Amino acid sequence: MASTEGARASWSGKWAFILAAAASAVGLGNMWRFPYLAAKYGGGTFLLTYLVLVFTFGVSLLLLETALGRKTGQSAIGAFSSFGKKYTFIGVLASAVPFIITPYYCIIGGWVTKYTASYVAAGADALADGGGFFTNFITSNVESYVWMLIFMVLVFVIVGLGVKGGIEKANLFMMPALIVMAIFIALYTLTMPGAVEGALYYLTPDFSKFSPELVISALGQMFYSLSLAMGIMITYGSYMRKQDSLTSSVVRIGCFDLGVSFLAGLMIVPAAFVAMGSGEAVASNAGPSLMFITLPSVFVDMQGMAAVIGFVFFLLVLFAALTSAISLTETLVSIVQDGVKCSRKKALGIVVAFVVIAGAVINAGYNVASFIEPLGAGTSLLDLADFFSNSVLMPIVALLTCIFVGWIIKPKAIIDEVRVSSKFSAAGAWTVMIKYIAPVLVIVILVAYVAAQFGFFSM
Ligand code: PHE
Repeated sequence: MASTEGARASWSGKWAFILAAAASAVGLGNMWRFPYLAAKYGGGTFLLTYLVLVFTFGVSLLLLETALGRKTGQSAIGAFSSFGKKYTFIGVLASAVPFIITPYYCIIGGWVTKYTASYVAAGADALADGGGFFTNFITSNVESYVWMLIFMVLVFVIVGLGVKGGIEKANLFMMPALIVMAIFIALYTLTMPGAVEGALYYLTPDFSKFSPELVISALGQMFYSLSLAMGIMITYGSYMRKQDSLTSSVVRIGCFDLGVSFLAGLMIVPAAFVAMGSGEAVASNAGPSLMFITLPSVFVDMQGMAAVIGFVFFLLVLFAALTSAISLTETLVSIVQDGVKCSRKKALGIVVAFVVIAGAVINAGYNVASFIEPLGAGTSLLDLADFFSNSVLMPIVALLTCIFVGWIIKPKAIIDEVRVSSKFSAAGAWTVMIKYIAPVLVIVILVAYVAAQFGFFSM
């Protein structure tokens, strides 16, 4: 325990790191956003684009962040400031992202916890009432907050047990369980009448749907899904041992995240297709309603199996949400611990207090404070937090990080760190990516997201 109490924590080995990074990456983004985007953008066309982006841009940035963390042995703020005080602000911006995401992630985690429990307590029919159940629940003052707290307690207990004693063990159990459950559900839903047609829609490329908008959406999804540009991978890299290969680790993390996204699509798109009759209809059903309203009404048609499938599905989403929330919380703890120079325990206390309060405020946006519609009619405080962190701050942090490494400290600093533990034959291509391609792509995402938000075009 000594290593997780006072001094900095560390992973017990390379696989613990890979599993933890994959566990952070695999989350609500894979489970509901990816399937919806794939349905919207012509199935296979989106899958192919996403695949290419993950293995070029995605793993390049993953490599950059983990190497930066391992080289400096610090979480985001310390990592940037170790190259000079004037770079501290990049770390501060990166660290702001998990502070914004964690509270609202825990709120959605609470919804998933509530659904998992309701399949046991209330049965499948109660949840499949066309949306009343969901709306009543999220607009309740107290109940939705209580479920958020339940989700948070699970997260904090695991983080409180430390990196090796809590996080590694939880990942070792939840990640394989998640995969097994996802395969089970995907196979089961494919036996429903009409599901194969939905699966074909999901898998077959429709190149007429290829557009710049598709690429921008795929890029944005990739950032969020790989937990990039928010200091998480810097922190996780800082717990790595010098002898463990970074290159093979980041490729495996990319494979893992992509594989789970693919499986999530295979579970959800055919099932939703059965309910709605066409891929376009599935795509028009964006956001929370796809998971919390449409799917329960699909499950209820499975009669005898309805409650079982519903329960297993939400349990697997819960595991995905928990492991991601754990990584967010661990990052916050590490930022506070390094920033305030206090013990891990005290840092955890500060983080708990913050999330309990910030979560209450954002949750109020669905009930007592629902008159606040920050991004236009029908939007909530949660939408605002999501927009600000994902569409504004993350691209800015990614851009600054690429400029910092590509042009200020120079790519060689990172390449040397990567070469401490493995060959890096793609160093040339990686340099071009970080110096030129990535900054341009990131500027495109940033402009597109902000323009779409203010109504210049729809995404
Ligand atoms: N990558 C997670 C997902 O796909 C989300 C997440 C973002 C997790 C940021 C941790 C940090 O849902």
